[in-house]
Amino acid sequence: IKKIGLFTSGGDAPGMNAAIRAVVRSAQYYNIEVIGIRRGYEGMINGEFIPMDVKSVANIIQRGGTILKTARSEQFRTPEGRRLAYDQLKRNEIDGLVAIGGDGTFTGARIFGNEFDVPVVGLPGTIDNDLYGTDFTIGYDTAINTVIDAVDKIRDTAESHDRVFIVEVMGRDCGLIALRTGIASGAEAIMIPETKRDLDALMDKLENGRKDKSSKIVIVAEGEEAGNAFEIGHQVKEKFPNYDTRVSILGHIQRGGKPTCMDRVLASRIGVAAVEALRDGHRNEMIGIVHNEISYTPFEHACKHNVEINANFLKIVEILSI
Ligand code: F6P
Repeated sequence: IKKIGLFTSGGDAPGMNAAIRAVVRSAQYYNIEVIGIRRGYEGMINGEFIPMDVKSVANIIQRGGTILKTARSEQFRTPEGRRLAYDQLKRNEIDGLVAIGGDGTFTGARIFGNEFDVPVVGLPGTIDNDLYGTDFTIGYDTAINTVIDAVDKIRDTAESHDRVFIVEVMGRDCGLIALRTGIASGAEAIMIPETKRDLDALMDKLENGRKDKSSKIVIVAEGEEAGNAFEIGHQVKEKFPNYDTRVSILGHIQRGGKPTCMDRVLASRIGVAAVEALRDGHRNEMIGIVHNEISYTPFEHACKHNVEINANFLKIVEILSI
């Protein structure tokens, strides 16, 4: 491998910059050139290439977002789009790719890697933590810390007004952000798509839970199964007109901000491992960390349908929220 193309794709996640820095610096360490590809697959097709060196990634380890920018590309879904991307890579003598992103990014990478003779490795970068083959994805730790910071603040006002708060967190169709932040913020209930969001159980909890509680927080993962937080809030209001109920959707603040120490270290470790993996002949694999060891997972297995929810977490909420 002489020249790596590096890009971020899909939703951004805090720690992506730390991963970019790690890839660029470790490549330089191993005498490999790095070309930054802006705006993910879209920029690959359009030839938005910028040479990167040690200096170009100075002072970014602590910054949220991605200096390479990111996009979701429709064109790359087509064989013609992928052919254009391949031609651009060839023209620029890029002989390996490091993709930082999530499920959609790796689906694209898998198809591209099977169609063309360019080895691709992936770094899991998404706040959702919905990839199999790594204990944590880059950005998840920062996002859950942002969530608990916000919910702690909501708790202050909920407690002052004796209110019920339905708080919606991100995760697309995965409940892992909700699950952890629900425990960490002392939520009274968590509703996640994986357990089909049992509305009756929620009503039961609100009806029969301890009466001397001033505030109640329900963390709801986004996703359509039981409706969004506003619909759930509406149903709670109908059933309990005497509860003062409010809905809060945390939204994109969950994607921004300085990455935590955990995310920076994770990104640095797997960033270096990705370059080493390409040198060692790996291709079509996501690099992650499982049980504190670097792991290599074929893209087709990394996709989120393999991620399991630890049911014990829900039990913990049930026990601790009495
Ligand atoms: O995958 C990350 C994520 O933030 C999800 O949690 C969320 O469903 C989605 O991206 C939002 O995407 P967009 O920023 O395109 O609205």
